[in-house]
Amino acid sequence: MTFSRKIKIAPSILSADFASFGAECRAIEAQGADWVHVDVMDGHFVPNLTFGPATCAAIRPHIKGVMDVHLMIAPVDAYIEAFAAAGADVISAHLEAGPHIHRSLQAIRGAGVKAGLAINPGTPVEALEYLLDMVDLVCVMTVNPGFGGQSFIQSQVAKVARLRAMIGDRPVHIEIDGGVTTQTAPLVAAAGADVLVAGSAVFKGGSVDNPAVYGSNIAAIRAAAQGAL
Ligand code: DX5
Ligand code: ZN
Repeated sequence: MTFSRKIKIAPSILSADFASFGAECRAIEAQGADWVHVDVMDGHFVPNLTFGPATCAAIRPHIKGVMDVHLMIAPVDAYIEAFAAAGADVISAHLEAGPHIHRSLQAIRGAGVKAGLAINPGTPVEALEYLLDMVDLVCVMTVNPGFGGQSFIQSQVAKVARLRAMIGDRPVHIEIDGGVTTQTAPLVAAAGADVLVAGSAVFKGGSVDNPAVYGSNIAAIRAAAQGAL
């Protein structure tokens, strides 16, 4: 993973066919996805359940590029080694998932994986001040985590701009997660985001049998974001 602020589209397989994850990952990469975003939910930190490290390990051989694992679980630390062993390239933990996020980020990097820090819509960027030197990515949630298909929370655009200024020259990605569409992608790209997660906006209208729709959806989001730069 060489660092670049070029716009990257990261489809969330939360909106894929759960019975066909391997084929879905191959399809979105063939159709232009830069990263594959994998949403892990525990029914405790968020009110929804998805899957764990065994599913991530099963998906891994079907992804040529970056497997970006977003942990919406609490506690986090006991599971970091398992997600690293499953082949994650990036593991993001939530600042709100427990009292020791600093330790969790150390553990992620210690496992040889890029460390991501995810923050909920109600969390101020100032909370990141003493963490920015130990992360490779900040994931700004632009919906309340737990479900795909929710509406983008506009107040987060100003947060992204403030975060971009705080990051300065550090090689830290800004990822946006939730409600990314051709309408909202330009707002966050202009504010400084470089990784755009999109679930419903990528998978809508397509399937593994009709993957060209994924390609046109990915291209449309990318063009909308790049048009704002
Ligand atoms: C929400 C997840 C997101 C979600 C985004 O908790 O972290 O990755 O899948 O879905 P859309 O793009 O549909 O808002
Ligand atoms: Zn996510």
